This record gives sequence, C-alpha cells and structure tokens, in this order.
Amino acid sequence: MHAAMVIDRRSPAPLQRQIYDGWRQAILTGQWHPGDRIPSTRELAEDLGVSRTTVVAAYDQLMGEGYLESTRGRGMFVCHQLPDAMSSVRTVPREDAATSTAARLSRYGRRLDAKVSRSPGESGVINLSKLSPAIDRFPLQRWRGVLNRHLRTVTSALFDYSEQVAGYEPLRTEIAAYLARSRAVQCTADQVIVVNSSQQALDLCARVLVNPGDEVALENPGYDRARELFAAHGAKLRPVRVTSDGLSMDDLGRSTSVVHVTPSHQFPMGVSLSLARRIELIDWATSTNAVLLEDDYDSEFRYHGPPLPAMQSLAGRASVIYIGTFSKVMFPGLRIGYLVVPRALVTPFARAKRLSDRHTVMLSQAALVDFMHEGHLDRHIRHMRRLYRIRREVTIEALTRHFGEDVSVQGEAAGLHLVVRFRAGRIGTRATRRGVELMSTASYYFSAAPRDEFIIGFSAIDERHIREGVKRLAS
Ligand SMILES: Cc1ncc(COP(=O)(O)O)c(C=O)c1O
Repeated sequence: MHAAMVIDRRSPAPLQRQIYDGWRQAILTGQWHPGDRIPSTRELAEDLGVSRTTVVAAYDQLMGEGYLESTRGRGMFVCHQLPDAMSSVRTVPREDAATSTAARLSRYGRRLDAKVSRSPGESGVINLSKLSPAIDRFPLQRWRGVLNRHLRTVTSALFDYSEQVAGYEPLRTEIAAYLARSRAVQCTADQVIVVNSSQQALDLCARVLVNPGDEVALENPGYDRARELFAAHGAKLRPVRVTSDGLSMDDLGRSTSVVHVTPSHQFPMGVSLSLARRIELIDWATSTNAVLLEDDYDSEFRYHGPPLPAMQSLAGRASVIYIGTFSKVMFPGLRIGYLVVPRALVTPFARAKRLSDRHTVMLSQAALVDFMHEGHLDRHIRHMRRLYRIRREVTIEALTRHFGEDVSVQGEAAGLHLVVRFRAGRIGTRATRRGVELMSTASYYFSAAPRDEFIIGFSAIDERHIREGVKRLAS
C-alpha cells in the first residue's frame, strides 16, 4: 500500500524527514485520498525497518500540519480537509526517474530534495506564513523610472555579454559604501561579488569551499535552503543548537570546515548572536581555519535600537564571508544579492560565478545603482521599517489578546517574521480548518521540532487580516 515510500539510508536527509516527505508527496499527488486509512506507526515502522519513534515523530508533524488525523481506536487517516496547498499543487504522480528516462542522475541530482513548493494561497484563506516583504508597497514608479532611463539606448555595457563577471563596477562600489555605513562592513568594491541573491551566494560558497564529505555546520533550527544546498553538494552536515545567545559553540567540531550562521537575526528563531559569542566564534574560526558564512538576510529591519555591527567587521585574520540580499529590502523576484569575500578568495569566486551563469543581469544592476545612489532604497527601507514595526506589534497584540498566557513569542524585535509557541494543542489542524495558512517550524529542524511551534510572517499582510487570522486561530 505504501510502495511510494522509499527510504534511502545513504541520504543525508533524516529518516523522519524522508517519511514526512513521502506521505506529504503521496497525499499532494493524489495517490492517497482524504479519508483513506493509512498504516499505523507500528506497521510502518516494521515495514520500513525503522524505529517507531521516528515514524511517530513524522506522523506528529503531518498531523500538526493537517495532512493526517487519528481517530481513537480506529487508526490514522488522511485528513478530510487538507491544507489549501494541496488543491493547486495536485500534480501527476512522481515517476520513478529510472523508468521515465534513460538518463542517470548524478549524485548531486539524486541528492536533490523532493520537496513540493507551496502553492499561492486560495481566496478566503488568510496567509500568516508569508515571509516576503510588502511588495505592494514597493515604489514601482521610481523603479520603472530608473529602468527606463537605461532602456532608452542600447549600450554594449548593459546589453552585450559582460566581462564584469563579479558585478557591474558602479554597483559593487555602491554596495561597498552601503555596507560600510549601515553594517560597518570593512571592504573595498573589488571584494564585492554580485550574485543572483543569497541562494547563488551559498551555491558558490559550496562550489568553491566544500568537497563532498567535508563537514558544514548549520544552525538547528536553521535555514532549510542552506541545509538542502550543502547536502546536495555532498557535505556532511553538522547541526548546531541555537540558544538565546545564538549559535552554540559547544556543538562545533574540530573537523568543521564551514559554518553557516545568521548572527543579526537567527533564522528562524530570531535571536541575535551576542557580542561575546561572535568573538568566541571568530577566535575559534581563526584557530581551526574554518570559514564563517555570515548570512545577513534581513538585518535592515530592527525595531528597537541598531543591530550589532556585522561579524565581518570583527573578523581580523578569520575568514568571514558576508552574504547580503536585496530580496527583503526590495523584492525577492529581483534576484540580486552579494558576497563580500576576503581578498584571496575574489578570483576563485569570480571564476565560479562566470562558469555558473557568466554574470548577473546588467540592466537590473545598472538600475539598482541609480535607485541606491538617489536615496530611494534608504527611503524605502525607512518606510518599511515603520510599517513592519506596526504589523509586528499588531500581531503580538492580537496573539496576546486571544491566547494570553497560552502563547509565547520568541526572538528579538526584528525581521519580517515571529516564532511563536502555543500551549494550546493542535493549532496546525485548527488553522487548516479555519482557513488560515500557518507554517510549522518543523522543516527548519534536523530532527523532531517542538510541538506547536510556528513561524508567522507579518510583513506582507495588512493589519486587518493579521487580526482576523489570529482571531480565527483562537476561535
Ligand atoms: C536565512 C536566509 N537567508 C537568505 C534569505 C533570502 O534568500 P534569497 O536572497 O536567495 O532570496 C532568506 C529568506 O527567507 C533567509 O531566511
């Protein structure tokens, strides 16, 4: 009955995760239907030859997210009302790669996660899980203006292949100045490599710095796309706990060669890496020769006081690679981000970028230079900081009003999301039933996540819908 479930013991993905993905995929692709009875945890554990606790943890997560429900004494069933993601993601069943094509996948190809992307929300559903900026507030007129300016005449600098593989020179200069004033990053323009957002920055780091089998340490919970990326490159992943001071030094090993860290606003927990911990981490990296990847994805949004300066500014002899993105301060579809690398790494990174996609789109880079230079970016960030602060406060107010002591909000007053823990159980199922899209933090953990912990994005949803969404959760 559950032939669709394949457990790959050589995969870096934990077994619990594989079981979770297997069921989710089977439900989303219509192999299993609402109301179908599925094997009990004991039966599945036996069939797959895994421990029952592993299956229980995967089933708990699926229940929490509204895919499965259990009826006392009768067993486990596919939920009658599935999360809204399901209706529009229903696709043809995944075919076995070996039968659908003669091409054999590389190791990299085989390691790629089978995760189904989330669907856009259905009408009537309140989406509390969006982690995007408020793109409806983006000053489109200004952007159109700077783009049009460069579209008036065809110039070879913007329309032909470019030799500026590490980025359009004026943009590298603009970024270096922006980072110096806003994040105390110490660099010159030639250390800035413009890329297609953080995701490509991480991909180039993996290509240039990591061999299969090398150990990469990642925050746990942490950024799932970084974890998937390093796993696909064949790295050995080392989970590192996150405390109220940020990443825990106790979990780093002497064999760790690269550490991915989000010091300003840990993703997803929202804590900031304390100054003492930053110094400890830098000293450790200096003594072990490990490379620190400082992922500073949303540091511009801090609502009480300034953030600590970037870790890169304290690096001394340690190798710190600073990664920034315009996804949160402008819009994610722009796909422009940057790395700031130590001088010795500029050439390998520029070569890797050239080989990967020659260079980032020159037209958008040129428009971005004007947008920054004329002060539109700084102004937009100031406006959004004000808006997000209000939306964050409204979210916390609504949660406190409806849940009182039964909810706790984690992390600093920063960023575009909150992590909340509910003491009341089964909030995930309730959210699905009441037409609220709510995302559990489970996919950010290497192993079992705390129950009833969710991530709430408040930046891309207006205040009225935030209040209504939280009210629905509580009703
Ligand atoms: C930790 C982290 N880094 C980076 C990003 C942004 O990714 P990108 O720049 O590829 O859009 C995100 C987005 O949520 C994130 O959470």
